Order: sequence, then C-alpha cells, then structure tokens
Amino acid sequence: MKTIRTVQAMAAWSAAHHREGVTIGLVPTMGALHAGHRALIRVARLSCDAVVVSLFVNPAQFGPKEDFARYPRKPKADATLCRKEGVDVLFAPHVDEIYPDGFQTTVSVPRLARRWEGEQRPGHFDGVATVVTKLLTLVRPAAAFFGQKDFQQAALITRLAEDLNLGARVIVYPTVREADGLALSSRNVFLTPVQRRAAPALFQALKAGRAAILAGGRSGAAIQQVMRKVVGKESLAGIDYLAVCDPDTLEPLKHIRDCAVLLGAIRIGRIRLIDNLLVKC
Ligand code: PAF
Repeated sequence: MKTIRTVQAMAAWSAAHHREGVTIGLVPTMGALHAGHRALIRVARLSCDAVVVSLFVNPAQFGPKEDFARYPRKPKADATLCRKEGVDVLFAPHVDEIYPDGFQTTVSVPRLARRWEGEQRPGHFDGVATVVTKLLTLVRPAAAFFGQKDFQQAALITRLAEDLNLGARVIVYPTVREADGLALSSRNVFLTPVQRRAAPALFQALKAGRAAILAGGRSGAAIQQVMRKVVGKESLAGIDYLAVCDPDTLEPLKHIRDCAVLLGAIRIGRIRLIDNLLVKC
C-alpha cells in the first residue's frame, strides 16, 4: 500500500492510473476506521481495479463548538486495516494541502442541506460538500462509497456529483450495526458503558416507526409520535429530531405514499447519535 500525503502526488497517481485504464474506487473517511468503513472498502475492492481510501479529519465540517480537536484519531490502526484489506493508496493529506493559504471556495447544496443535520450543525454540509468535491476532483474515481448511516450526507453528495458532472458514481452502502442495532460510528468510543446501553434507543425508535408504517400508518405526524415515545422512555436520551421524510428531497411528509425515510438524531450526554431507516410500503 502506498501512502500519499500531497495533492500533487495524488493527482499524479490518479492520472497515471487513468492512462492505463484502471478504474479507481474511492472511500472517503475521517479515519478511526471501523467495520462500517471495512465494508465500504470491501465493496470498493470488488467493483473497482484499485482502491483509494482518504483519511482526512476535515476541519471545515466541524462547527466552532464541535468536537474537531477530540475527534478520534488512530492513524496507525487505520493504515493496518487498509493494508490488510488490500487498499492501494491511503491518501492522508495535511490540512494545508487541502486548504492552502488563500483558500476561499465553498460548495453548497442548499436545499438538501437545509434541514436536519444542516439545521443542527450550521455550515457542516458546506464543509462536507467542499471537501468531497475536492477529493472527487483529485482522485477522479469511477465510484465513491459512502455509508447509509449519514443518509442526508449521501443524498447531498449524490446530488453534487451529478450537478457538477464529477464523473463518479456515488454508491451508498447499508449501515453496519452492532448486535443490538446501534449504528457503527467512530464517535461511539466516547460512550460510557451506561450511555452505551442507552444508545440503541434511536434504532429502536426507527424500527417502531417502520413497524407502524408497515402496519398501515400513513400520517407522518403519527409515525413521528410513535418514534418520540420510544426515545422518551430512555431517560439519558434527548431528541434533536425524529422525522418522516421524502427520501429524495428530505422534506417532511404529511402523508406517506409509497416510501419514506425515517431520520433521527439524539443526544446522550455530549454524544450525538444519528441513524435512519428507509421504508418502502
Ligand atoms: O462521512 C465522513 O466521514 C465525512 O463526512 C466525509 C464524507 C469523509 C467528508 O469529510
């Protein structure tokens, strides 16, 4: 496995491989890799000739009061996992490589970023959209792989790749979960044992919402109430949002017709958990 740290070397590697007709799969990450990332790497390996994993804790997507400084960083373990999974390139640039002096461009996907995570974390999606645009432009992958856990992020990246003709297929892979349903996330390491036991409340709420839809429920407000009731039983959990949305526009649904995405974010202590379920009826 080759580790690349500069934008120039990454672009050169990509150009050389394009010339040889190699299809590149990109798995963008912020490191602290877990089984969810491993699943993305494996699917990239299966569908592309060469796999690039980017490892960059992107300061632009963290608000001033968020956890950029204490975001988990495990560069050695990440490199070991990537090597073991047959990754060809680990692209781990320094922040000055991505945002050199004078950098001032922002990519925005305003309608998809307006609600939910975008409302809770102002500026977050501009940071995501900007860095992902840079990564797709540099690496020029045939396909880029993202987890469904960040449903809104995946929707927004799918849109921007199409809007900006970036030439990469955006593949969204199902969420990988612990045995009790908790969606894998690099931030889960911050949960204390007591908080960890409370954390599945979010997935339980989403499942209750899904069950209510599959039982014939069609009112968005009623399904939202079902989900709120489940989280409400967990005294450690506070609700940021629990929503019933159109999976394409992410706008709230008053009436569910043929499908919906249930989006949720809760807080347990200082930790935010997000998750979602796509429901077809
Ligand atoms: O999902 C993530 O880890 C990040 O938001 C991403 C897509 C790597 C952009 O920094």
